[in-house]
Amino acid sequence: MKNLIITGLPGAGKGTQAERIVDVYGIPHISTGDMFRAAMQNGTELGKQAKSYMDQGELVPDEVTNGIVKERLQEEDTKNGFLLDGFPRTLVQAKALDKIMSELRKNIDAVINIEVNPDVLKARLTGRIICRNCGATYHLTNHPTKVEGVCDRCGSHDLYQREDDKPETVENRIRVNLEQSKPILEFYSEKGLLHTVNGEIGIENVFSEIQSLIG
Ligand code: AP5
Ligand code: MG
Repeated sequence: MKNLIITGLPGAGKGTQAERIVDVYGIPHISTGDMFRAAMQNGTELGKQAKSYMDQGELVPDEVTNGIVKERLQEEDTKNGFLLDGFPRTLVQAKALDKIMSELRKNIDAVINIEVNPDVLKARLTGRIICRNCGATYHLTNHPTKVEGVCDRCGSHDLYQREDDKPETVENRIRVNLEQSKPILEFYSEKGLLHTVNGEIGIENVFSEIQSLIG
């Protein structure tokens, strides 16, 4: 199984697990959130457009998001598989992805849904730290770096907190994503593709569950 989607509410652990999945399976990690953040950092038109939504914890419009995913999935490195993280996030996006897949003569093999009680998400997000160099994700208390201020994965000293991890933005992100997630989970469940894993059992245990699903 190599054409994968990882889904879950903000802070469920999509990026944390994606990091491990792509290291083991050698497939590209396609995170729409990361793509928007890179565009913002580069000051592109896409970045300017995305910023106003992301800063409020709202979703970027479907047509913008679908367009960048369609382009990305046509790149050569996706030919032996890919991991979509944070896309699709609305039913419109899920249907657009179906269309893209059939145009590219591909199929989604599995949707991994990381389930976490919304009550624990706020503490996860407000304590998150990320490596600007390699994207590795840590948590001030749940999953600190081995050496304070230094990334375990690449040794960089450039660790940061995300703009949208402020407590007031976090609440809106969780609310918006909760509303959108139910119909997507139903959509993939009806197709027999949905695999739900418990996201509250520790990072390495969640990864073991995912590995046994992917095979
Ligand atoms: P995006 O970047 O995708 O953010 P998100 O969905 O809000 O999810 P996060 O990245 O915050 O959480 P995560 O699940 O990756 O958790 P992580 O592994 O980091 O999107 C950002 C924004 O971009 C959106 O709000 C929207 O505006 C826009 N956007 C993106 N995609 C879009 C789309 N398709 N359509 C429209 N708009 C879109 O873990 C979180 C913390 O928890 C870390 O500190 C980690 O160390 C810790 N942790 C992880 N797992 C565990 C565990 N098992 N136990 C304890 N702690 C854990
Ligand atoms: Mg993420």
